[in-house]
Amino acid sequence: MVRKCLFPAAGYGTRFLPATKAMPKEMMPILDKPLIQYGVEESLAAGMQQIAIVTGRSKRAIEDHFDISYELEHQISGTSKENKLAGIRHLIDHCTFSYTRQMEMKGLGHAILTGETLIGDEPFGVILADDLCVGNPEPVMSQMLRLYKKQPACIIAIEEVPLSEVHKYGVIDGEELEEGVYKVNGMIEKPSAEEAPGNLAIIGRYILLPEVFNTLRETRPGKGGELQITDALHTLAKQEKVLALKFSGMRYDCGSVHGFVDATNYFFALYRQS
Ligand code: UTP
Repeated sequence: MVRKCLFPAAGYGTRFLPATKAMPKEMMPILDKPLIQYGVEESLAAGMQQIAIVTGRSKRAIEDHFDISYELEHQISGTSKENKLAGIRHLIDHCTFSYTRQMEMKGLGHAILTGETLIGDEPFGVILADDLCVGNPEPVMSQMLRLYKKQPACIIAIEEVPLSEVHKYGVIDGEELEEGVYKVNGMIEKPSAEEAPGNLAIIGRYILLPEVFNTLRETRPGKGGELQITDALHTLAKQEKVLALKFSGMRYDCGSVHGFVDATNYFFALYRQS
């Protein structure tokens, strides 16, 4: 029912300089797998097999990653290393990948609007690969899709954060309809603790209706002079078209050193147990 998933991956990743000077943030590995591969796995698990990626300068490694490397495969064929490529091969075999380029980094809303050419007129998932999610019991996008199937609307994933942290996020004003599901009345991008309507912060997972594109076109640049998806969703929330899901599981902000190290420790602990 939702076949496509958009990966805005054009940002500069300034919080992770100098690592991200020439290398895409999305290619930074947690153990031996780049962040964006975790995201594509989550997308495929939710049945979204058509992967649409918005890239920018210095992002070519992403395209190469989701392609077959014949020389490499030939080299390791028949050796014990062969199965190291099994996971990425599975994604290549089960997904399609299409790309478009964001020429100027004018914000997440602008990146999503740039992706319209790949999405067209249908609902779609959005995954920000630097938000690495470990859903429990099922991946976060699958949890969101379950809600979407019951109530087709824009669905945004949220989590509680300390009030001292709300200035880093979009924050919703909502009323709880059932456990963990909120009707969103409005939202605000990076508010101060005083301005914030609460502490329910938007994280990097969305299911969006295609009308978001027109709304984005009509939205003026907001915080930081960037076109904010939060501002467009605020407009749609006023039309009662937005639900928020407090997902179950963990999220690591791998765009920050702190979150990246936490995620690495989490996956390394799992790896040691296996
Ligand atoms: P972030 O603000 O986390 O990413 O944007 P950033 O700008 O790359 O990182 P910092 O803050 O400078 O360290 C959230 C997501 O939106 C994408 C980013 O790639 C990231 O996945 N994005 C952001 C774009 O694709 N284009 C933009 O113009 C801005």
